Amino acid sequence: MRLLVVGKGGREHALCWRLNQSPSVWKLFCTVGNPGINSLATPVPIEPNDIRRLADFAAQERIDLTVVGPEEPLTLGIADEFAARGLALLGPDRAAAQLESSKSFAKQIMREAGVPTASFAVFDDVEQARRHVRQLGAPMVVKADGLAAGKGVTVCDGPEAALRATEDAMVRRVFGDAGRRVVIEERLSGQEISFFALCDGAGALPLGMAQDHKPVFDGDRGPNTGGMGAYSPVPQFDAALEERIMREVVEPTLRVMAARGTPFRGVLFVGLMVDGGRLNVLEYNVRFGDPECEALMMRLEGDLAQALLAAARGQLAPEHLRLSPKSAVSVVLASGGYPGAYDKGLPIGGLQRIDGNEPSDAKIRWAVEQVRVKVFHAGTASTQGRLVTDGGRVLVACAMASTLERAVAAAYEAADMIEFKGKHVRRDIAAKALAGLA
Ligand code: AMP
Ligand code: GLY
Repeated sequence: MRLLVVGKGGREHALCWRLNQSPSVWKLFCTVGNPGINSLATPVPIEPNDIRRLADFAAQERIDLTVVGPEEPLTLGIADEFAARGLALLGPDRAAAQLESSKSFAKQIMREAGVPTASFAVFDDVEQARRHVRQLGAPMVVKADGLAAGKGVTVCDGPEAALRATEDAMVRRVFGDAGRRVVIEERLSGQEISFFALCDGAGALPLGMAQDHKPVFDGDRGPNTGGMGAYSPVPQFDAALEERIMREVVEPTLRVMAARGTPFRGVLFVGLMVDGGRLNVLEYNVRFGDPECEALMMRLEGDLAQALLAAARGQLAPEHLRLSPKSAVSVVLASGGYPGAYDKGLPIGGLQRIDGNEPSDAKIRWAVEQVRVKVFHAGTASTQGRLVTDGGRVLVACAMASTLERAVAAAYEAADMIEFKGKHVRRDIAAKALAGLA
């Protein structure tokens, strides 16, 4: 198979790494790539949002399957463009991608499908929104309807904060057009988890559960980021919960999408709040999470390329994928200052001690303990032959081992072997799970 991966971050590096191990893949391209990806895939200098040129490239290069990492090209209709030209692509079309690109659409689908979720109301008129906030009075969550780079959600303790958030979105337009409409919903409490399913329009295979760590500092303090680390599986929750999520969330969602004539093909990422026996869907995303994907790719077994092609063709079968029962963890190495302003172009050292041919005590120990360690590139660049920082999230150190404790120790050992000025790492990835296991 000839494959094209669209995207340029840690998620796409992990996908390329895993796809490269598929026996059926003999040529891999990635647009636009990064120094880590480029060691596995031929870089293609077309931006992920340039969907016409990507389709031209796929046709010219006789690509058998295109796999899309980020949500933006999906929201712009990359799947529609490829389908119109008879090109296979894994990812939902524009209509189905609304599960992520419009929060009110997502809530409507949840309601139609009977999927458990927080009670909500949708507003296009600020006066009505204000009235609703005053009436509710209780803790609530105000969400800009459209894509707002992960910043459109404000969790509020009471009506004052909610009024401010409503006005920020609808009047001051701090999220641009994304805030023209808002969803105001009941505030839930519990533990958040991410669940992934590979969907072929009619059915789905579970890709496992992971827990992300969004705030930038330890103890969930500081501003939210794209994610500072993740682990999978999530030992607080058992296989029974996974089955419930498939039965109560994924399958009914797929049924409603198919009945509307917009079947969902691709990776469905369900964000959930779990509180004892209660589960509620917070959001859908229409792609892999980052850094959840990195941890999941460590655990995935089977021919990923064949599985993704089968999903794109609507022919997914249970034998296509398995997940290792081992534990995987991903730890993000971020630029100092992220998610605010940060420097770029800072030299990165130490990677060759983990990934290269250079022997190290750690590598020998990992081999003996059967710990698998891998570092993915998220925001790096190569200037004059030197690897430098080039983004907020720079590298993602991952490890998989027979226990979560070992995986966490190895991922941090790898993260500590890498150096760049201002490096910031959350030290408590998976700490809640480990405390529960102790
Ligand atoms: P979303 O983009 O909808 O997942 O929201 C972003 C974050 O806001 C989630 O990861 C939660 O931490 C929080 N959040 C969203 N909806 C709710 C809710 N109904 N109750 C409590 N927290 C929420
Ligand atoms: N890590 C969460 C996301 O990718 O949206």
